[in-house]
Formats: sequence, structure tokens, C-alpha cells
Amino acid sequence: MVKILFVCLGNICRSPMAEFVMKKLVEEAGLSNCVYVESAATSAEEIGNPVYPPARRELLKHGIDCTGKAARQLRRRDYPQFDLLIGMDRANLRAMQRICGGDPEHKMRLLLDFIPRGGEVADPWYTGDFETTWQDVEEGCRGVLAEIRRREGA
Ligand code: 4NP
Repeated sequence: MVKILFVCLGNICRSPMAEFVMKKLVEEAGLSNCVYVESAATSAEEIGNPVYPPARRELLKHGIDCTGKAARQLRRRDYPQFDLLIGMDRANLRAMQRICGGDPEHKMRLLLDFIPRGGEVADPWYTGDFETTWQDVEEGCRGVLAEIRRREGA
């Protein structure tokens, strides 16, 4: 079992999009029994809140339902529980390291580290551009799936 935790600032836009895109890709690949996916926030701002409506609509446009997701905050005890902790931008990575007390097992990555072009996932919070975020997230998650297949020999 590979356990993946996607992380962003609020856990209401980017990381839940990644969580639900990844779950769909994993399901389509027939790997639901070997991959566990969740998402969390670095901030406490949105704890308990559902996915932000424009992000929810973007997922729905692509046939993905994220009903039931409530934002939760990353905790230090998540670190030993997950194999990969994947941030959306560099500020997320710094906050993740602060919360978890570093990254001694080198499990922390940026989502777009899994694709050749690299970079940070577009933050839709101020731009309102959820489509570009979708594209980044979808491409990144496909890269994560490829990495899992390599690791698992699946
Ligand atoms: P997310 O988006 O980190 O992708 O979930 C944001 C959510 C909330 C805030 C910023 C970004 N905020 O400032 O409250």
C-alpha cells in the first residue's frame, strides 16, 4: 500500500482537487487496493469547510464528485503515516517541514516535481482561474501515478 497526502494552504482548492483527481486515476488504473489518498492544509483557516465551490465545479466539469470532503490540518503524526507528502507550492513545503519537524525520510515533494517541466501548481485563490489549476493538478497526478507504477511494479 502506498499512502499519499496532498497538501496546500487551505485544503479547500488545490490539494482536494489533487486528492480527487488522484483517486480517479488510481481507480481507472485498477490500483485502488494498493494506493490510499488524502489531503490536508498547512493552515487552520478552513478546518471543517467543504471544497470551495469553484474548485468543486471544476472537478464536476470533469465528472469528479468531491462531496463529503472537509478540510483538515496537517499534523506531525501524519508524517510517519504517509509514504509521500506532496505540496502544491514551495511555501506549502516549508510549512509542511515546520509542522512535521523536517523531512528526515525525504518523503516530501512538489506535485509538479513528478513531471518534466516542474514548477508550482497555479494558485487559483486570487486569480479565480481554476482551469489552469485543473491542468497542473491533472498532469502532476499522472506523474505521481507513473512513479507509483515504477515503485510497485504495477
Ligand atoms: P488552497 O487555496 O490552499 O488551494 O486550498 C486557498 C484557500 C484559502 C486561502 C488561500 C488559499 N485563504 O487565504 O484563506
